[in-house]
Amino acid sequence: MLLDDKVAVITGVGSGVGRASALLFAREGARVIGGDVREDWGKETLRLIDEAGGRGCRFVPCDVTSEEDVRNLIAAATSEYGRLDVMMNNVGVSTPRPGMSFEEHDAADWKRLIDVNLMGVVHGCKHAILSFKAQGDGGVIVNTGSAAGMVGWGGVPYGVSKAGVIQLTRGLAIENAPLGIRVNCLCPGAIDTNFAMPPETAFQPKPPALRELLGSHHPLGRPIEAEDCANAALYLACDLSSNVTGIALPVDGGYLAR
Ligand SMILES: NC(=O)c1ccc[n+]([C@@H]2O[C@H](COP(=O)([O-])OP(=O)(O)OC[C@H]3O[C@@H](n4cnc5c(N)ncnc54)[C@H](O)[C@@H]3O)[C@@H](O)[C@H]2O)c1
Repeated sequence: MLLDDKVAVITGVGSGVGRASALLFAREGARVIGGDVREDWGKETLRLIDEAGGRGCRFVPCDVTSEEDVRNLIAAATSEYGRLDVMMNNVGVSTPRPGMSFEEHDAADWKRLIDVNLMGVVHGCKHAILSFKAQGDGGVIVNTGSAAGMVGWGGVPYGVSKAGVIQLTRGLAIENAPLGIRVNCLCPGAIDTNFAMPPETAFQPKPPALRELLGSHHPLGRPIEAEDCANAALYLACDLSSNVTGIALPVDGGYLAR
């Protein structure tokens, strides 16, 4: 049990990496407080945790663009369990349409990507650090960045928002290291989730040709699975990484090594 009795907050718990991480963290003994803007998806994740025998987990509706919502999500952990051990800022949204050029994005597209992908993480880091400082015994933050935040890959504003997450991670790691607060992020390649998919296809298996296309990005030749990212998040969240901070960990089938 790598997270026995730890209290973990995870955003974007309704799907993909967030759902897989919530299930894995709960299996490893954590009490998970999950937030998502999709209440139906988030509650389904909690049902799956219950079904698998997880204990003491809760769903709190949360839009990460609202600092108030994120504050309330973290407050649910501290009021219910008296503390916060792990904050996983995982929500991210995609470019409005695949293949959009830089100049096709208007100011509203930029605002949405920055508000959700960067400011959502900023709010989560801020309120987690406030809780960790009040507790006085360290804490762990795991952010979900992207390989697209490290190299040019896909939509430029999306990459900029994720580069912001990586730099936020590094800066906070240094600023908070003296307090025993660790801050890391994972940087996935192309994951098979609901990300960037039409809503009507949510949770449906992808056609083999699409899985092949996702996998073709990576030297290892397979799509990244949400569970691959959850495994990396677990490593960064637990004491196995107790002397690791400020890293951007690729989970990308070798994409960034090229
Ligand atoms: N899927 C990929 O190929 C890929 C690649 C690299 C990085 N990522 C990153 O991984 C993370 C997880 O993505 P995923 O693939 O699991 O996506 P997903 O779309 O399957 O899940 C995202 C979840 O976030 C929720 N969400 C969206 N906006 C929200 C908001 N404003 N407030 C609260 N919840 C919100 C959604 O309802 C959904 O449950 C994201 O940060 C994404 O940018 C994804």
